[in-house]
Amino acid sequence: MGVAHGWWTEAVIYQIYPRSFADSDGDGIGDLPGITARLGHLAELGVDAVWLSPFYPSPQADAGYDVADYRDVDPLFGSLADADALIAEARAKGLKVIVDLVPNHTSSAHRWFRAAVTAAPGSPERARYVFRDGLGPDGATPPNDWQSVFGGPAWTRLVEPDGRPGQWYLHLFDTAQPDLNWDNPEIRAEFLDVLRFWLDRGVDGFRVDVAHGLIKQADLANWEEPQEILSGNEADKPRPPMWDQDGVHEIYRDWRQVLDSYDGARILVAEAWVEPAERIARYVRPDEMHQAFNFEYLLAAWTAPAQYAVITRSLEATDAVGAPTTWVLSNHDVIRHASRMGLSAQGGRPNGIGIGDPQPDAALGLRRARAATLLMLALPGSAYLFQGEELGLPEHTTLPDEARQDPTWERSGHTQRGRDGCRVPIPWEADAPSYGFGPTDASWLPQPPLWAEYALDRQQGVAGSTYETYRTALRLRREHGLGRGTLEWLSSGDETLIFRNAGLTVLTNFGTAAVPPPAGELLHSSAPLDADGRVPTDVTVWVRHS
Ligand code: NOJ
Repeated sequence: MGVAHGWWTEAVIYQIYPRSFADSDGDGIGDLPGITARLGHLAELGVDAVWLSPFYPSPQADAGYDVADYRDVDPLFGSLADADALIAEARAKGLKVIVDLVPNHTSSAHRWFRAAVTAAPGSPERARYVFRDGLGPDGATPPNDWQSVFGGPAWTRLVEPDGRPGQWYLHLFDTAQPDLNWDNPEIRAEFLDVLRFWLDRGVDGFRVDVAHGLIKQADLANWEEPQEILSGNEADKPRPPMWDQDGVHEIYRDWRQVLDSYDGARILVAEAWVEPAERIARYVRPDEMHQAFNFEYLLAAWTAPAQYAVITRSLEATDAVGAPTTWVLSNHDVIRHASRMGLSAQGGRPNGIGIGDPQPDAALGLRRARAATLLMLALPGSAYLFQGEELGLPEHTTLPDEARQDPTWERSGHTQRGRDGCRVPIPWEADAPSYGFGPTDASWLPQPPLWAEYALDRQQGVAGSTYETYRTALRLRREHGLGRGTLEWLSSGDETLIFRNAGLTVLTNFGTAAVPPPAGELLHSSAPLDADGRVPTDVTVWVRHS
């Protein structure tokens, strides 16, 4: 099948986590004016677009993924005028802007949920959410056995307005994130309008949160499996009643029509923890979304066979539906890849690292992370970067537990540390308060000691720094059109992977011995070659073949 073309099919998209990117007012929480002031950094780095995690009014029970108003900006982050200014400045710098849309659930502070709580069972207000009577003679048992992704039951019981215990509502995530009822046409109409609200303001697309969760199996059948963050449905198990139901696709077909009625190419990106790759490809059929995150790639072990298999499978699955493949190694929900790749257990879904846990090998992790990034940026398709990875930033792996804010930590009964370690405010200037994150020392999560060495100003202009390695890779990727090339494998052994794309030969050495580079002019490498000009372990090279 022919693959679609547009800016997004080969774009490198940089994820900004607004709380932790840049703080303009010194309250310790990043904000929109802070982002606008730092957009020059991203243009210089050479990315094509930014995706902003939620900045909407929210009690911040899940760092803004609990939205109380879809058409405004939380005063923590600024105002709608600040959002307009950000979009305008991004455009002036040639950057596209993607915003986050959270349709699976609202905040419990949303006016709809507040109305539902005071309304009667069976009322139209309750019909916007998933309310059910409890089981047992007094209704004290939840309507089914579903577990919340953050731990504990996925149901919370209301106290009715008359003071008596009442109905239960479903929340696949935190209690403060009630799931919407997408069988209700009012919900569908509302979100079409929310899309238009942001499209009219000039955004270039939406990253769709929990895109695989909106429709639940009608009978809400029991499901014994515990839920975990990062878990979708495993390839070899039956499909859970809360994930990846066929009905979700109709919703995205409707959204696509709205996007297509606007000028330019506005895009939808699915966040869906769904396996196998063929199931995720269903979200990017020609009349649905444009992209879906490739989490199977993110979770793959750092070995030649595992990387070869996931790259090949990913390309085949998206080619079959004519969509571009995407690649991602880090985001705000996973352990940063500079640390993840330094853990002794490779692959899988580790959920946070803290004091007392086995610590990653930082040097090994960074070396592999840089090799993985150069491998990723040489692949055809679109790639996602998470703020700070261009600095080689590791996870904060010794964050004091009392500083943790991710609801996972409490809801899992302190068994899952959660995602705070990748969300720490990033360092810009080594010698400034909060390493230049803001004008004061305030930082909503404590920054680790030794953060200075990762600061942008320590790396700019320093040959071989992680920052300059990313910048060169992004420039070469653009110059050679790697994002729109075609991958041709030259070798896929146990020790090395070698492929060709758009006139470049790319080699990654996963083995224990150094290997000769491919013939041709060495254009880039994730670390220096050895004294004999060979490619050491955990290094990727880009060569222009002769
Ligand atoms: C996925 C988001 O990336 C994550 O941060 C959030 O907690 C859940 N969806 C719930 O909205």
